[in-house]
Amino acid sequence: MKINKIYFDNAATTKVDKNVLKSMMPYFSNSFGNSSSIHSYGQKAEGSVLKSRDIIAKFLNCRSNEVIFTSGATEANNTVLKGVFFDFKGHLITSAFEHPCVLETAKYLQKNGVEVDFVRPEKNGIIDSKKVLSLIKDNTRLVSIMYANNEIGTIQPIGHIGKKIRELNQNRQNKVFFHTDAVQATQFLQMNVERLYVDFLSMSSHKIYGPKGMGAFYVRKETRLKPLFHGGHHEYGLRAGTLNVPGIIGFSRAIELIASEEHKKDILNIQKIRDYVVKEVLKIDGTILNGDRELRIPNNANFLFKNVEGESLLLKLDMKGIAISTGSACASGSLSPSHVLLSMGIKPESAHGSMRISLGKYNTIDEAKYFVKELKKIVKELRKYSPLK
Ligand SMILES: Cc1ncc(COP(=O)(O)O)c(C=O)c1O
Repeated sequence: MKINKIYFDNAATTKVDKNVLKSMMPYFSNSFGNSSSIHSYGQKAEGSVLKSRDIIAKFLNCRSNEVIFTSGATEANNTVLKGVFFDFKGHLITSAFEHPCVLETAKYLQKNGVEVDFVRPEKNGIIDSKKVLSLIKDNTRLVSIMYANNEIGTIQPIGHIGKKIRELNQNRQNKVFFHTDAVQATQFLQMNVERLYVDFLSMSSHKIYGPKGMGAFYVRKETRLKPLFHGGHHEYGLRAGTLNVPGIIGFSRAIELIASEEHKKDILNIQKIRDYVVKEVLKIDGTILNGDRELRIPNNANFLFKNVEGESLLLKLDMKGIAISTGSACASGSLSPSHVLLSMGIKPESAHGSMRISLGKYNTIDEAKYFVKELKKIVKELRKYSPLK
């Protein structure tokens, strides 16, 4: 078995599916019109955008005019949070282990006058819905809880929280809106917005084999949101800017593919490989699986190795051609321990020894076997010279 390069970092980004790439190609230099133009070039582009919007609306079970295209989930999350708190008044509830694009936005709003509660997850990386609901007060305007955590893959009870908020809203004049960052959940979990009882939901294309710089959010028509960008009347007044037509086409093709029967088979395979990796890696002494064993998306495993420095592990594995992560891509490069692990009560000195693998549909069991073999050797070697002992 000859293995050259292994990519186990699909939560950071995925390879663009060749069918996605093919669908995008005509829109760069043939059907290149601006979808806002009236002439036939524009109409052609607009027609294709409408089809893409319909595909995504069907996937989410919402109306087509409730899908707003953005440059990615960072923009989608910023738009929702800042769009609700445009006047910096009221109360926001979020979690302490959100992706930085929610967490930093929440801190920015807090600095400017919004009251913010950051709910910490339980030890297993799951948010207790009761804790979230108990924090709701008269001036609460938004609850924002991620669907699946990007570092430890744990799945949050979004449908349950959403349903309870909807019930509460029946007796409230000032409705509480509910948002979820569904970036890491999109290809694995229930995405029907009616079943999730959400008012806003964010997605990113490059995590599901689509192009980078492309995302969208769902916005329930009954909500009130101020736009982040002002300019033309694009995206129902919620996001000015010429539409990224090739990106939109690619994103909707990626959505079609993850909604297919073929993808269901891919997920089973991904889970099988992940379970094999978990079983084998936990045989290494002093190793813990971070996050709930069952309630996690099927492609994620996050380990903690006693007396091992995560960055050294990453570099050693990279030298063997294996790409993993020690946290979210945005956090790597900084030496501070993962805020996700800290929020779960893991000590900073232990959090440094963490490693995330996130699998994708192109990974194979042979790759997993090679990975486990190399990992065992590397952990042993690093422990031998570890000053942490
Ligand atoms: C949970 C989560 N939210 C948001 C983002 C940001 O998405 P984008 O890269 O599209 O801005 C990411 C990407 O790492 C993510 O994992």
